[in-house]
Amino acid sequence: MATALTFAELQQCDDSGDSALLDRIADDLYRDGYCIMDNALPEPMTQALSAYQKALSEQQFSEAGIGRKSLFHKNESVRTDKVCWIDGSSQVGAQWLEWCHSLKAHLNKRLFMGLFSFESHFAHYRPGDFYKRHYDAFKGASNRVLSLVTYLNKEWDALDGGELVLYKDDADTAGVRVTPKLGTVVLFLSEEFPHEVRPATRDRYSIAGWFRVNTTSGNRIDPPR
Ligand code: OGA
Ligand code: MN
Repeated sequence: MATALTFAELQQCDDSGDSALLDRIADDLYRDGYCIMDNALPEPMTQALSAYQKALSEQQFSEAGIGRKSLFHKNESVRTDKVCWIDGSSQVGAQWLEWCHSLKAHLNKRLFMGLFSFESHFAHYRPGDFYKRHYDAFKGASNRVLSLVTYLNKEWDALDGGELVLYKDDADTAGVRVTPKLGTVVLFLSEEFPHEVRPATRDRYSIAGWFRVNTTSGNRIDPPR
């Protein structure tokens, strides 16, 4: 008779490329509620995403707004970047979503997070652009639970600015500063960490994404974004 797999054996069945990396991400999230990993994305994917984003024309980017697409409103005093939502229609977009899906599966398995869907967009901050201190989700008001940011900037110098500053709570004014360099991945609980994007002296490219839990109930279907 077949016996149940042990936890370690189950983890080996994970078809994601780098389960040691995914384990480190899960450990950090469990301990701190956030995680900052340099060189987390496979190198060929960072190269492909960076080339793809550069090739997107300015027309494909639109002014970023606050809130869900359906409840969208622009607010230039809060953020000035431009965004382009990623779907799976390009090869690199599909590859990116696949990577995020593996991460989601891993976190659900390790931390029982119940992550259900994922949405993400490229963001372009021109020199001087910013996103002031904000939360990605307010307690009880959204089903965004985990935020993900990754950077597509080659040879970024600390003097170029453009840091993400992640604050532990409302009282924190120092924060943890993250240099937006190619391949760094940041994850944090959306309702727990206020954060901001500081202005840079160069064009700053990133992807921001959110994992959601499913809040479909009765005949009200949860919209994708
Ligand atoms: C966001 C955001 C951070 C970054 O888009 O909500 O906080 O470093 N982005 O680009
Ligand atoms: Mn944010």
